[in-house]
Amino acid sequence: MNHRPHTTAILAMTADGKIADFKYSAARFGSINDKIHLEKQVSLVDGVLFGAGTLKSYGTTLSISNPILLQERVMRSQPPQPVQIVVSASGNLDPQWRFFQQPVPRWLLTVPSGAEKWRSHPGFKRILIVHGTKENHSAINWTATFSQLQELNLNKLAILGGGELVASLLAEDLIDELWLTICPVIFGGNAPTPVGGKGLIQSQAKKLQLLETKQVEQEIFLHYLVIK
Ligand SMILES: NC(=O)c1ccc[n+]([C@@H]2O[C@H](COP(=O)([O-])OP(=O)(O)OC[C@H]3O[C@@H](n4cnc5c(N)ncnc54)[C@H](OP(=O)(O)O)[C@@H]3O)[C@@H](O)[C@H]2O)c1
Repeated sequence: MNHRPHTTAILAMTADGKIADFKYSAARFGSINDKIHLEKQVSLVDGVLFGAGTLKSYGTTLSISNPILLQERVMRSQPPQPVQIVVSASGNLDPQWRFFQQPVPRWLLTVPSGAEKWRSHPGFKRILIVHGTKENHSAINWTATFSQLQELNLNKLAILGGGELVASLLAEDLIDELWLTICPVIFGGNAPTPVGGKGLIQSQAKKLQLLETKQVEQEIFLHYLVIK
């Protein structure tokens, strides 16, 4: 694919490599510094992508509220808030979630069957419908999706998780950069990690180049480039 949006995945992880506890609760273990970092990263993009599992656990999304970041968006001729794109093949999302009252532009990315239940519901400003892949009708065809997003002028995307969404994009080499915050807690157990899916054998591992590290109090912020 020649022209496609640039993507940065941004995730907070426990010291033992989990992005949530084994109950898949909302991940609230990052500090205020991590929240500031996340808001900054989100403020740089045109659109934010997250999976239905992530929306289900939080019920909301992160909007930009810092006046300096809002001002910087104005100076870059970006609208105040990036488009918030929920990825859900099933379309099984609860219209009662607070997300649907948040003052942000909401889009749904789904397959034809998942779009049905939202046709007459005003929850989303736009519904992007793509066919599933040949192998799995419920798996978003990312090549088709990314060309649609590019045509809609979404040139920079933040990928906010969870692990299933990240795995499916990484499998197609569609993640360009990764920010990982290592937080000083341990969850253990069968909990989600930054990259879910079936997993890769060692010889097929995706390789990263470390671009930058910083420590802020008890957390470490790692910035990687994904090598293609
Ligand atoms: N620590 C962090 O930074 C962080 C960030 C985000 C999330 N989390 C945590 O991670 C957990 C959720 O992660 P998760 O991996 O279970 O869920 P997820 O990736 O957020 O969501 C999975 C769901 O999203 C949809 N989806 C994702 N990729 C798709 C694809 N390629 N094609 C079609 N549909 C796709 C499907 O929805 P349908 O089933 O509706 O079709 C799928 O069931 C939560 O506990 C959350 O708190 C942590």
